[in-house]
Amino acid sequence: MNNSGWPPTQRVSLLLPPRFDAVARFSMSVRDILKMGDPRLLRVAQPVTQFDTDHLHLLITDLLDTMRAADGAGLAAPQIGVDLQLVIFGTDAPNPRYPDAPPVPRTVLINPVLTPLDDAMVEDWEGCLSVPGLRGKVPRFNHIRYTGHDQYGDCIDRTVEGFHARVVQHECDHLMGMLYPMRVRDFTQFGFTEVLFPHLA
Ligand code: NI
Repeated sequence: MNNSGWPPTQRVSLLLPPRFDAVARFSMSVRDILKMGDPRLLRVAQPVTQFDTDHLHLLITDLLDTMRAADGAGLAAPQIGVDLQLVIFGTDAPNPRYPDAPPVPRTVLINPVLTPLDDAMVEDWEGCLSVPGLRGKVPRFNHIRYTGHDQYGDCIDRTVEGFHARVVQHECDHLMGMLYPMRVRDFTQFGFTEVLFPHLA
């Protein structure tokens, strides 16, 4: 999910002395985020077979740094060109773009399985770091259970609803080659962030 319209990170960095800012950026492993149109975003990702490896931990560090640098609410491995079933999401703090939504716990979710718990769908606005500058209203299941593993191979099994459920569905769609515009049903509810939400652009 995309939270890039919110400016505090940029504001903070502008207040820092230039040298400090350059050093802080240099020490991070921020990767390029693929944009819609890149065929690597359309692949069905491969399952992770080995947990608690240096390679996996390094990948997760890169994903976290990249998500933070882009001010995102979540990021999937395919978005940095890595063909694995791995997503990260959550911030442990209220999301400024969704002030009424409960905070989503910081999570590394590997080889996820999502199960809707009923037929109820809810439409709400989404963005995506791979579809910069745009927002669309997307229908999602309101109640889901999701299972999978963390980077150490420990099981994750949660029943969630609302914004948390939406974030998980959005990120896990990336593992099936789905981008949110493919799920938009009403294209009168799709457009540029700077027009739809000038305060976020
Ligand atoms: Ni996305």
